[in-house]
Amino acid sequence: MTIEGNANQHKKVFIETYGCQMNFSDSEIVGAILRDNNYLITYDLHEADYILINTCSIRDNAEQRIRKRLQEFKGVKKKRPWLKIGILGCMAERLKNQLLEEENIVDMIVGPDAYRMLPKLLEEVEAGKKAINVLLSEEETYEEISPIRLSSNHISAFISIMRGCENFCAYCVVPYTRGKERSRNPDTIIQEASKLFEAGYREITLLGQNVNSYSWEENNIDFTDLMKLVAEISPLLRVRFATSHPKDISDKLLETIAQYDNICKSIHLPVQSGSTRILELMRRKYTREWYMERINAIRKIIPDCSISTDVITGFCTETEEDHQDTLSLFRWVGYDYAFMFKYSERPNTLAAKKYPDDVPEEIKTRRLEEIIALQQELSLESNKRDIGKTFSVLAEGISKKSPHQLYGRNSQNKVVVFDKKDFKQGEYVEVRIVNVTAATLMGEAI
Ligand code: 5AD
Ligand code: SF4
Repeated sequence: MTIEGNANQHKKVFIETYGCQMNFSDSEIVGAILRDNNYLITYDLHEADYILINTCSIRDNAEQRIRKRLQEFKGVKKKRPWLKIGILGCMAERLKNQLLEEENIVDMIVGPDAYRMLPKLLEEVEAGKKAINVLLSEEETYEEISPIRLSSNHISAFISIMRGCENFCAYCVVPYTRGKERSRNPDTIIQEASKLFEAGYREITLLGQNVNSYSWEENNIDFTDLMKLVAEISPLLRVRFATSHPKDISDKLLETIAQYDNICKSIHLPVQSGSTRILELMRRKYTREWYMERINAIRKIIPDCSISTDVITGFCTETEEDHQDTLSLFRWVGYDYAFMFKYSERPNTLAAKKYPDDVPEEIKTRRLEEIIALQQELSLESNKRDIGKTFSVLAEGISKKSPHQLYGRNSQNKVVVFDKKDFKQGEYVEVRIVNVTAATLMGEAI
């Protein structure tokens, strides 16, 4: 299709993304599909003909935020009455038609597996109809699509390697919004990573709801094999991955991380709770002791590895004793970083159907505050241990606080700030740490 004479030539699309890295990666796929159909991607909301919101359903407050944003768009639409609004992603999948009925500003609903249909759906919208496609697929991985890089620093990029999730943790909406687990053809992954490296990118993050259950049966490639293939593209290309389920964090994977300098020494291992009783109710498929054994394996095989986690506080029936188990596990692991949440009941999940959401809101809040306060201490302690150490830092950009400083991350995924001098973005800089806060390492280049 040529650009000349194409009816979409001047149509501008603004994409706004909420939720996990996977959603940000999907928005880049959406951008590529639209660009290939001669739409223009704009970064300015006020010149958009279409606003597409890629949404998240993980907690009720994520959905409420998006509904509030829709209210704000009513004002934008008053000034640009031809403006059309589409909802993509997890909220589209979870609420389907209901969302069209509840939010009359919405013109289009598209689930995470239906993005190839976007050009056709937008045509329907253009013809004045409401358009919807929320079919989930067992195969779609958008494998041959070369994503556009939205708001990129041209140094680090996400590569989606698998989609969906079949773990069915009792609290989680993801298996319902993103469907069955499926892996992407490794050849297309390697190709995408190689192209990024040639274009000057120096860090890629392999993404999936459950990356380490990646499996390509045709030539028997598992996640560890895939990581090796990506790491071998160049020693100058850093490799990260997110997110792993503790059940799949094998010794084979840990040994590979240890073996390659350019596979980052940083593992995100969501624990969700420190209480075996709660873990069982959550259907996490491991106990506190089993998780601790995996942490011991990480410490033994990759001694300089940072470990981060996700935790949910106030899950159904959680007692003070369960909560203390979570705090003591946090202390025992000494996490470098954590994402901490209050339990939010999601309709139709196993927990919503089977258990009462019986921990009062003020107790959830208090427990969350206790975990956050503890993690703040642990992060500071972890960073203090880095004073005097030297790290190889990939410079990513100019520090927000000073134009004379650069920021980047070390292999452990900690943010490091240092004087710019003649260093450039995309370079590896050896930095010795001299000062720290709970969030940042400050150092000098050596
Ligand atoms: N309530 C609160 N937190 C949740 N998460 C997933 N589902 C819920 C829920 N219903 C958290 C988990 C997960 C992270 C992405 O979000 O900690 O690892
Ligand atoms: Fe949110 Fe989960 Fe969907 Fe990501 S997969 S956008 S975290 S609901």
